[in-house]
Amino acid sequence: MVRLGVKHARSGLLPVPLCTGKDPNGLSTLMADSGSYLTSYPYSQGITMNNSNKFPLVIILGLVLTVPLGASSAETFSPYVDTEGNISLPQDFRLRMVHLGSWFVPEGDASGFHDVYTEAESATAYRAIGEFPDGATLVKELRASDSADYTTGKGVHSASTRIKQWFVMVKDAKERFTGNPTWGDGWGWALFKTDAPEVNASKSYQADCLSCHIPATETDLVYIHAYPTLSGAR
Ligand code: HEC
Repeated sequence: MVRLGVKHARSGLLPVPLCTGKDPNGLSTLMADSGSYLTSYPYSQGITMNNSNKFPLVIILGLVLTVPLGASSAETFSPYVDTEGNISLPQDFRLRMVHLGSWFVPEGDASGFHDVYTEAESATAYRAIGEFPDGATLVKELRASDSADYTTGKGVHSASTRIKQWFVMVKDAKERFTGNPTWGDGWGWALFKTDAPEVNASKSYQADCLSCHIPATETDLVYIHAYPTLSGAR
Protein backbone atom coordinates (compact mmCIF):
# COMPACT_ATOMS: atom_id res chain seq x y z
CA MET A 1 0.00 0.00 0.00
CA VAL A 2 1.26 3.44 -0.79
CA ARG A 3 1.82 5.40 2.38
CA LEU A 4 2.22 9.12 2.63
CA GLY A 5 5.81 9.96 3.36
CA VAL A 6 8.07 12.38 1.62
CA LYS A 7 5.43 12.87 -1.00
CA HIS A 8 3.03 13.96 1.61
CA ALA A 9 5.31 16.75 2.69
CA ARG A 10 4.85 18.16 -0.76
CA SER A 11 1.13 17.74 -0.63
CA GLY A 12 1.05 20.04 2.37
CA LEU A 13 1.33 22.90 -0.03
CA LEU A 14 -1.74 21.97 -1.94
CA PRO A 15 -4.67 21.35 0.36
CA VAL A 16 -4.30 24.41 2.52
CA PRO A 17 -8.04 24.87 2.98
CA LEU A 18 -8.35 21.33 4.29
CA CYS A 19 -6.07 22.06 7.19
CA THR A 20 -7.80 25.07 8.56
CA GLY A 21 -10.84 23.55 10.17
CA LYS A 22 -12.49 26.90 9.63
CA ASP A 23 -14.66 26.37 6.69
CA PRO A 24 -17.02 23.45 6.73
CA ASN A 25 -19.24 24.87 4.02
CA GLY A 26 -16.83 26.15 1.48
CA LEU A 27 -13.18 26.22 0.76
CA SER A 28 -12.82 29.80 -0.24
CA THR A 29 -12.80 31.39 3.19
CA LEU A 30 -9.18 30.60 3.83
CA MET A 31 -8.22 32.46 0.74
CA ALA A 32 -10.23 35.39 1.97
CA ASP A 33 -8.62 35.03 5.41
CA SER A 34 -5.16 34.92 3.96
CA GLY A 35 -6.00 37.94 1.92
CA SER A 36 -7.07 39.85 4.98
CA TYR A 37 -3.88 38.92 6.81
CA LEU A 38 -1.91 40.04 3.85
CA THR A 39 -3.61 43.36 3.54
CA SER A 40 -4.52 44.16 7.12
CA TYR A 41 -1.30 43.43 8.95
CA PRO A 42 0.77 46.45 7.97
CA TYR A 43 -2.18 48.82 7.84
CA SER A 44 -3.95 47.85 11.04
CA GLN A 45 -0.75 48.52 12.92
CA GLY A 46 -0.40 51.86 11.24
CA ILE A 47 2.93 50.78 9.84
CA THR A 48 4.16 52.35 6.66
CA MET A 49 5.98 49.99 4.38
CA ASN A 50 9.62 50.85 4.16
CA ASN A 51 12.88 48.97 4.23
CA SER A 52 13.15 48.81 8.01
CA ASN A 53 9.87 46.99 8.60
CA LYS A 54 9.70 44.72 5.58
CA PHE A 55 11.71 42.13 7.49
CA PRO A 56 9.31 41.58 10.38
CA LEU A 57 6.41 41.60 7.95
CA VAL A 58 8.02 38.79 6.01
CA ILE A 59 8.57 36.79 9.19
CA ILE A 60 5.04 37.30 10.45
CA LEU A 61 3.54 36.47 7.09
CA GLY A 62 5.69 33.37 7.08
CA LEU A 63 4.32 32.36 10.47
CA VAL A 64 0.74 33.07 9.49
CA LEU A 65 1.07 30.98 6.37
CA THR A 66 3.13 28.22 7.96
CA VAL A 67 1.02 27.49 11.03
CA PRO A 68 -1.97 26.04 9.17
CA LEU A 69 0.29 23.95 6.94
CA GLY A 70 2.24 22.50 9.82
CA ALA A 71 -0.65 22.10 12.20
CA SER A 72 -1.31 18.54 13.21
CA SER A 73 -3.76 19.01 16.03
CA ALA A 74 -7.14 17.45 15.64
CA GLU A 75 -9.08 20.71 15.58
CA THR A 76 -7.27 22.03 12.54
CA PHE A 77 -7.20 18.75 10.69
CA SER A 78 -10.58 18.66 8.91
CA PRO A 79 -13.78 20.70 9.07
CA TYR A 80 -15.64 17.38 9.22
CA VAL A 81 -13.77 15.91 12.18
CA ASP A 82 -13.97 17.07 15.79
CA THR A 83 -11.25 16.78 18.41
CA GLU A 84 -12.49 13.33 19.43
CA GLY A 85 -12.36 12.03 15.88
CA ASN A 86 -16.12 12.13 15.34
CA ILE A 87 -16.82 12.50 11.64
CA SER A 88 -19.73 14.53 10.26
CA LEU A 89 -21.38 14.39 6.86
CA PRO A 90 -20.26 17.38 4.75
CA GLN A 91 -23.20 19.71 4.17
CA ASP A 92 -24.37 20.25 0.61
CA PHE A 93 -21.45 18.24 -0.73
CA ARG A 94 -23.09 17.86 -4.17
CA LEU A 95 -22.66 21.57 -4.70
CA ARG A 96 -19.44 22.15 -2.80
CA MET A 97 -17.41 19.14 -3.90
CA VAL A 98 -16.52 17.67 -7.27
CA HIS A 99 -18.01 14.48 -8.61
CA LEU A 100 -15.38 11.75 -8.90
CA GLY A 101 -17.47 9.09 -10.56
CA SER A 102 -20.48 6.79 -10.16
CA TRP A 103 -21.24 3.13 -9.79
CA PHE A 104 -24.45 1.34 -10.66
CA VAL A 105 -25.32 -1.67 -8.51
CA PRO A 106 -28.09 -3.65 -10.24
CA GLU A 107 -29.54 -5.52 -7.26
CA GLY A 108 -29.37 -6.12 -3.53
CA ASP A 109 -29.44 -3.80 -0.53
CA ALA A 110 -26.91 -1.46 -2.11
CA SER A 111 -28.74 -1.32 -5.46
CA GLY A 112 -28.89 1.94 -7.34
CA PHE A 113 -26.35 4.64 -8.00
CA HIS A 114 -23.28 5.25 -5.88
CA ASP A 115 -22.04 8.76 -6.54
CA VAL A 116 -18.62 9.68 -5.15
CA TYR A 117 -17.37 13.18 -4.35
CA THR A 118 -14.28 14.90 -2.95
CA GLU A 119 -12.99 18.45 -2.50
CA ALA A 120 -11.71 20.08 -5.71
CA GLU A 121 -8.44 20.70 -3.85
CA SER A 122 -8.12 17.02 -3.01
CA ALA A 123 -8.73 15.97 -6.60
CA THR A 124 -6.20 18.53 -7.79
CA ALA A 125 -3.67 17.24 -5.26
CA TYR A 126 -4.34 13.68 -6.36
CA ARG A 127 -3.58 14.56 -9.95
CA ALA A 128 -0.29 16.11 -8.84
CA ILE A 129 0.97 13.51 -6.35
CA GLY A 130 -0.99 10.36 -7.16
CA GLU A 131 -2.57 9.96 -3.76
CA PHE A 132 -5.12 11.62 -1.52
CA PRO A 133 -3.61 14.39 0.64
CA ASP A 134 -4.00 14.44 4.40
CA GLY A 135 -7.48 15.73 5.25
CA ALA A 136 -9.07 14.71 1.94
CA THR A 137 -12.72 13.75 2.26
CA LEU A 138 -14.53 11.15 0.18
CA VAL A 139 -18.32 11.04 0.22
CA LYS A 140 -20.28 8.23 -1.38
CA GLU A 141 -24.02 8.74 -1.73
CA LEU A 142 -26.31 5.78 -2.41
CA ARG A 143 -29.52 6.50 -4.32
CA ALA A 144 -32.20 4.13 -5.43
CA SER A 145 -32.67 4.07 -9.19
CA ASP A 146 -35.62 4.52 -11.49
CA SER A 147 -36.01 3.05 -14.95
CA ALA A 148 -38.06 4.38 -17.85
CA ASP A 149 -37.98 4.92 -21.58
CA TYR A 150 -36.39 8.12 -22.81
CA THR A 151 -35.39 9.54 -26.14
CA THR A 152 -31.96 7.98 -25.53
CA GLY A 153 -33.33 4.44 -25.25
CA LYS A 154 -35.57 1.97 -23.43
CA GLY A 155 -35.17 1.11 -19.75
CA VAL A 156 -32.91 4.06 -19.02
CA HIS A 157 -31.77 4.08 -15.38
CA SER A 158 -31.56 7.30 -13.44
CA ALA A 159 -30.75 8.13 -9.84
CA SER A 160 -33.86 8.95 -7.85
CA THR A 161 -34.31 11.33 -4.92
CA ARG A 162 -34.60 8.30 -2.62
CA ILE A 163 -31.31 8.39 -0.77
CA LYS A 164 -30.31 5.18 0.95
CA GLN A 165 -27.27 6.28 2.93
CA TRP A 166 -23.93 8.05 2.80
CA PHE A 167 -20.42 6.73 3.37
CA VAL A 168 -17.57 9.06 4.27
CA MET A 169 -13.81 8.53 4.41
CA VAL A 170 -11.38 11.18 5.69
CA LYS A 171 -7.68 10.77 4.90
CA ASP A 172 -5.52 10.71 8.03
CA ALA A 173 -1.84 10.37 7.23
CA LYS A 174 -0.76 10.94 10.83
CA GLU A 175 -2.66 8.32 12.80
CA ARG A 176 -4.28 10.99 14.94
CA PHE A 177 -6.95 8.84 16.54
CA THR A 178 -5.25 5.60 17.51
CA GLY A 179 -7.61 3.77 19.82
CA ASN A 180 -10.71 5.21 18.15
CA PRO A 181 -12.26 2.22 16.32
CA THR A 182 -13.64 4.39 13.50
CA TRP A 183 -10.10 5.33 12.46
CA GLY A 184 -7.33 3.22 11.01
CA ASP A 185 -5.44 2.11 7.91
CA GLY A 186 -4.91 5.74 6.97
CA TRP A 187 -8.56 6.82 7.05
CA GLY A 188 -11.47 7.80 9.22
CA TRP A 189 -14.57 5.80 8.26
CA ALA A 190 -18.21 6.80 8.70
CA LEU A 191 -21.71 5.73 7.72
CA PHE A 192 -24.67 8.11 7.84
CA LYS A 193 -28.28 6.96 7.67
CA THR A 194 -31.08 9.17 6.43
CA ASP A 195 -33.04 9.02 9.70
CA ALA A 196 -30.05 10.25 11.76
CA PRO A 197 -27.60 11.92 9.37
CA GLU A 198 -25.81 13.75 12.17
CA VAL A 199 -24.24 10.65 13.73
CA ASN A 200 -21.81 8.09 12.43
CA ALA A 201 -23.77 4.85 12.56
CA SER A 202 -20.62 2.78 12.31
CA LYS A 203 -18.79 1.98 15.53
CA SER A 204 -15.92 0.06 14.00
CA TYR A 205 -14.38 0.38 10.56
CA GLN A 206 -12.78 -3.02 10.94
CA ALA A 207 -16.17 -4.62 11.47
CA ASP A 208 -18.16 -2.49 9.02
CA CYS A 209 -15.86 -1.37 6.21
CA LEU A 210 -12.37 -2.75 5.92
CA SER A 211 -12.89 -6.24 4.50
CA CYS A 212 -14.80 -4.87 1.51
CA HIS A 213 -12.08 -2.33 0.76
CA ILE A 214 -9.17 -4.79 0.95
CA PRO A 215 -9.34 -5.46 -2.83
CA ALA A 216 -8.37 -1.79 -3.30
CA THR A 217 -5.33 -2.04 -0.99
CA GLU A 218 -2.91 -1.07 -3.77
CA THR A 219 -4.70 2.23 -4.19
CA ASP A 220 -4.97 3.17 -0.51
CA LEU A 221 -8.25 1.24 -0.07
CA VAL A 222 -10.07 3.45 -2.61
CA TYR A 223 -11.53 2.10 -5.87
CA ILE A 224 -9.90 4.86 -7.84
CA HIS A 225 -10.14 3.28 -11.29
CA ALA A 226 -13.78 4.42 -11.50
CA TYR A 227 -12.94 8.07 -10.79
CA PRO A 228 -11.93 9.80 -14.02
CA THR A 229 -11.80 13.16 -12.26
CA LEU A 230 -8.58 12.00 -10.58
CA SER A 231 -6.76 11.10 -13.73
CA GLY A 232 -6.92 14.31 -15.69
CA ALA A 233 -8.94 16.83 -17.56
CA ARG A 234 -10.22 14.39 -20.20
C1 HEC B 1 -20.13 -4.86 1.07
C2 HEC B 1 -18.81 -4.29 0.86
C3 HEC B 1 -18.55 -2.90 1.41
C4 HEC B 1 -18.73 -2.43 2.66
C5 HEC B 1 -19.31 -3.16 3.87
C6 HEC B 1 -18.25 -1.07 2.67
N1 HEC B 1 -17.80 -0.72 1.44
FE1 HEC B 1 -17.21 1.14 0.84
N2 HEC B 1 -17.15 0.51 -1.07
C7 HEC B 1 -17.27 -0.81 -1.48
C8 HEC B 1 -17.09 -0.89 -2.91
C9 HEC B 1 -17.06 -2.18 -3.73
C10 HEC B 1 -16.92 0.43 -3.35
C11 HEC B 1 -16.81 0.89 -4.79
C12 HEC B 1 -17.93 0.29 -5.63
C13 HEC B 1 -19.33 0.58 -5.18
O1 HEC B 1 -19.60 1.61 -4.54
O2 HEC B 1 -20.22 -0.23 -5.49
C14 HEC B 1 -16.93 1.28 -2.18
C15 HEC B 1 -16.74 2.65 -2.19
C16 HEC B 1 -16.67 3.44 -1.07
C17 HEC B 1 -16.41 4.84 -1.07
C18 HEC B 1 -16.07 5.66 -2.29
C19 HEC B 1 -14.54 5.72 -2.40
C20 HEC B 1 -13.91 4.39 -2.78
O3 HEC B 1 -13.38 3.73 -1.86
O4 HEC B 1 -13.97 4.01 -3.95
C21 HEC B 1 -16.45 5.26 0.21
C22 HEC B 1 -16.25 6.68 0.71
C23 HEC B 1 -16.72 4.11 1.02
N3 HEC B 1 -16.88 3.01 0.22
C24 HEC B 1 -16.78 4.14 2.40
C25 HEC B 1 -17.12 3.02 3.17
C26 HEC B 1 -17.25 3.07 4.61
C27 HEC B 1 -16.97 4.28 5.46
C28 HEC B 1 -17.69 1.83 5.00
C29 HEC B 1 -18.04 1.37 6.37
C30 HEC B 1 -18.90 2.21 7.17
C31 HEC B 1 -17.80 1.04 3.80
N4 HEC B 1 -17.43 1.78 2.71
C32 HEC B 1 -18.25 -0.25 3.78
C33 HEC B 1 -17.55 -1.89 -0.69
C34 HEC B 1 -17.94 -1.80 0.63
